[in-house]
Amino acid sequence: MRFSSSPLPLAILSYLPSLPTSAAEPEKKGKCQANTDISLKWHAPAQTKINSLSSAINGTGIYGFIFNSSQSPPDTNYNWCNMPHINPTTYVRPDSSYKLAYVEIIHRHHKRTPYADNTFPHETYPWDCSDEGLFYGGRPLNPSGNDSASTYWDVYTSPSNPLAPAGFNGTCQFPQITRGGLDDSHQHGADLFAVYSSLLNFLHSTYDPEQTTFRVTNNVITSQVASMLVAGMYPSLASTLIPLQIQSASIDSLEPAYPCSAADALSSRYGVGSTNPTWTAHLSASTSLKKRLDKISGVNPNATNWSQSWDHYFDNLSSRLCHQKPLPCSATNPENCVTQEMANSVFRLGEWEYDFLYRSARQSLEFSKSSFGIWIAELADNLRSATEGERDGLARYGRRSSF
Ligand SMILES: *[C@@H]1O[C@H](CO)[C@@H](O)[C@H](O)[C@H]1NC(C)=O
Ligand SMILES: *[C@@H]1O[C@H](CO)[C@@H](O)[C@H](O)[C@H]1NC(C)=O
Ligand SMILES: *[C@@H]1O[C@H](CO)[C@@H](O)[C@H](O)[C@H]1NC(C)=O
Ligand SMILES: *[C@@H]1O[C@H](CO)[C@@H](O)[C@H](O)[C@H]1NC(C)=O
Ligand SMILES: *[C@@H]1O[C@H](CO)[C@@H](O)[C@H](O)[C@H]1NC(C)=O
Ligand SMILES: *[C@@H]1O[C@H](CO)[C@@H](O)[C@H](O)[C@H]1NC(C)=O
Ligand SMILES: *[C@@H]1O[C@H](CO)[C@@H](O)[C@H](O)[C@H]1NC(C)=O
Repeated sequence: MRFSSSPLPLAILSYLPSLPTSAAEPEKKGKCQANTDISLKWHAPAQTKINSLSSAINGTGIYGFIFNSSQSPPDTNYNWCNMPHINPTTYVRPDSSYKLAYVEIIHRHHKRTPYADNTFPHETYPWDCSDEGLFYGGRPLNPSGNDSASTYWDVYTSPSNPLAPAGFNGTCQFPQITRGGLDDSHQHGADLFAVYSSLLNFLHSTYDPEQTTFRVTNNVITSQVASMLVAGMYPSLASTLIPLQIQSASIDSLEPAYPCSAADALSSRYGVGSTNPTWTAHLSASTSLKKRLDKISGVNPNATNWSQSWDHYFDNLSSRLCHQKPLPCSATNPENCVTQEMANSVFRLGEWEYDFLYRSARQSLEFSKSSFGIWIAELADNLRSATEGERDGLARYGRRSSF
């Protein structure tokens, strides 16, 4: 799921380095501070194929973006299955007058099964996840007590339960990070270490909780990613206890689910479900594709949730391709299948929607401010603290309550 009010699937890391004892060069500070007259208003993005409706509707392919494999060269610019991240091959060192003082990384989770909401009414094949375990448990800490077992979920169906699960049969929870997504998360951690420790000598070579903290959201898939990513960064930590910071679900700024009527009102004027003419125009222009897909999927053409945006089909088709599963065929007519060309059209439309909702729409900046502003304020606070530490020549620790 890529947007809507559902959980934002994000994990975050922040590095609080041992700051240097010398004050930053005053000249450089002056330069940094000079640029205060930049406009904070929304400005239109460059016109690209992504935000061109005619390209979304009448174009072909998917702009060279990758939707069907985790494997792509390190300099790939877009891979939906395994988004390119920092790595030693492509890292560009700034000139030596700059000193790295603080790093905060926010990234999307790795590849997963679809959300149950995005599955077709009748799936024609099952999806299994018995090549991994999802660990949930508790353990007495502070003070420690008897150790717990590392218990994990083993999804099963019972012959006495007559109900079929929504969407796919099989042994997955929808959603969960898949085995491939876990492996990609581990590689991501190894790449972070390769850059920030081996290449830049910025992070200590062993885990230091005063230096590095990890934050997850209330969406469990971010914890699944974190468990592998941490072990990828620090292999010696595999199977040890590592805290993941998380805010209370009701106020989690990284996965904002708290009420914000101003943001809701704004989004209802231009976003999913709105009558904003640009938004409705893209839906009207794509009705014939929608009809063809509904026929194959069995989705009721009147189902509002599948008609207000392309998000459901986008997630539904991309998650299959990322896991080398076939594009689906109709349960009643196996000859009638989703083609790669139809999938590409859905992906172009999804890209167009994402751009419109979060960038091209005039209201999008105000919307982001109101819906995600608390997290931005936390980020600004962390950056200010890091700068002050630099100015005072002090290492600022103890900020881990926020990150
Ligand atoms: C797509 O092409 C058709 C046929 O040329 C045209 O009528 C339509 O306006 C185009 N759609 C968009 C959104 O440009
Ligand atoms: C992915 O899609 C591209 C373009 O359609 C194709 O060339 C490539 O063979 C596909 N790769 C896999 C692993 O299916
Ligand atoms: C989508 O809407 C239909 C009715 O319009 C409803 O039956 C279905 O449960 C909804 N699905 C999701 C995932 O919200
Ligand atoms: C795709 O949507 C169909 C129809 O709702 C659903 O049954 C199927 O599980 C979905 N598949 C994925 C991968 O989301
Ligand atoms: C560990 O478990 C045993 C058996 O239940 C109990 O007697 C003992 O008090 C526990 N130890 C701690 C530290 O809780
Ligand atoms: C899913 O399981 C139900 C019974 O639980 C069965 O009737 C159905 O045929 C299965 N579907 C697939 C695609 O295996
Ligand atoms: C969709 O709505 C129309 C108009 O209300 C109705 O005639 C039609 O039967 C509905 N289709 C389905 C598949 O429910």
